Amino acid sequence: MKNLPSHVAIIMDGNGRWANQQNKDRLFGHKQGAKVVREITEYAREIGIKALTLYAFSEQNWNRPQMEVKGLMNLLKEYLTSEKNTILNNNIRFSCIGNLGKLPKIIQESIVFLTNLSKNNDGMDLCLALSYGGKEEIIDAVKKISEDCMSGKIRPEKINNELFDSYLYTKNLPPPDLLIRTSGERRISNFLLWQLAYTEFYFIDVPWPQFSKEHFLMAIESFEKRERRFGLISTQLKEI
Ligand code: IPE
Ligand code: IPE
Ligand code: MG
Repeated sequence: MKNLPSHVAIIMDGNGRWANQQNKDRLFGHKQGAKVVREITEYAREIGIKALTLYAFSEQNWNRPQMEVKGLMNLLKEYLTSEKNTILNNNIRFSCIGNLGKLPKIIQESIVFLTNLSKNNDGMDLCLALSYGGKEEIIDAVKKISEDCMSGKIRPEKINNELFDSYLYTKNLPPPDLLIRTSGERRISNFLLWQLAYTEFYFIDVPWPQFSKEHFLMAIESFEKRERRFGLISTQLKEI
């Protein structure tokens, strides 16, 4: 593929509605969704994507019915154990972004374990957004920058885009080139608000549990046809 996005981010949406359509409970949809995560991760690695960021649980998702939150945490716990081999065998470096301190202790421990175990892998970055909110991430960065200004570590006039980037949870990753959202919703829902400034968006009506390699490839092909101008005009791009 000629113009492969190097970083793809996905808002994996539509699990609950997909399950309800079949008279199943929402958790059934989340279980199927977890299987799709594995398939798409392996496929992304196979075709040469360098980083994949998956929105798995938002800060706002904590306010869902407690039964659903509990079910999702159990699934996450299972995922972190069962995916260990997929991650290691595929030379994937695993990481998480979000307010991880809010997650159950046992999940926090699994995250630290898997992150350390895979830290020298360089085939692809897999980043899970958990307990993640884009506004919350920005506020956290602003707090840390303010503290560093007050202690004299940085001077306010030195604050620029690069410095701000370095205070975000995503400091180790480039911004996404392509964002995919499944299930027909066309909104960001508090995902990577800062990082998506020049990302290409791809919306697809298919709910996440039915999302396949073919759909992923359709998104990549759509990306490959686009001209990213970053504020410039076409002729300038050809001169670069
Ligand atoms: C996405 O599917 C997974 C999470 C947000 C955890 P949803 O659970 O949002 O499913 P819908 O959008 O209600 O169908
Ligand atoms: C966004 O989906 C969060 C995840 C996919 C994890 P939501 O289902 O929570 O978003 P809204 O409520 O439709 O905006
Ligand atoms: Mg949803």
